[in-house]
Amino acid sequence: MKIRDSGMPEKEMWENFFNPQAALRIMGLDKDVSNAVEFGCGYGTFTIPAAKMISGKLFAFDIEPEMIEMTKYEAVKIGVMNLKVGLRDFMADGTGLPSESVDYAMLFNILHLENPVSLLREANRILVEGGKAGIIHWNYDLSTPRGPSMDIRPKPEDCIKWAKSAGFSSPARCDLKPYH
Ligand SMILES: C[S@@+](CC[C@H](N)C(=O)[O-])C[C@H]1O[C@@H](n2cnc3c(N)ncnc32)[C@H](O)[C@@H]1O
Repeated sequence: MKIRDSGMPEKEMWENFFNPQAALRIMGLDKDVSNAVEFGCGYGTFTIPAAKMISGKLFAFDIEPEMIEMTKYEAVKIGVMNLKVGLRDFMADGTGLPSESVDYAMLFNILHLENPVSLLREANRILVEGGKAGIIHWNYDLSTPRGPSMDIRPKPEDCIKWAKSAGFSSPARCDLKPYH
């Protein structure tokens, strides 16, 4: 099932909210990351630059056929070859990836879902020992130009608490200006 409040504005508007390359660098994506996974690729805003930054393969999933097509289109347009995009409901079916098979899990603008710990558990299952999960979310601040309603918007401390319950350790927090 599609997670609550996960509709997107127009691509151009969405992509104005981020500097994806800078955000990904801050979030620890680089050539030392071999394989990675993205939960909910949307327009491919982070997918395409992430695929270019890592040394292995990026598996990106989304429940919306339109998002899958747009991400694939962008990848073909600029010749990104290490991206495998899959139409999938990862809440119902998980990722289908083997345990301990990726180095990095991208959970970007998605953790306002009903059961964040179950998604984080799936991320933890597929990560290798010492792997990392990156969580990005809208600031917990009414003045952001978009973002889930405040009653379901996670605070950074919520994300850290949920990640710990899903088996993660060593949380680090950063500020992705201006809104995340
Ligand atoms: C708010 S968007 C964020 C997209 C991207 N992570 C970004 O930050 O640009 C959330 C995405 O998750 C997808 N999504 C929602 N529920 C899903 C599910 N159960 N399985 C797979 N994708 C899902 C939506 O279709 C949407 O593209």
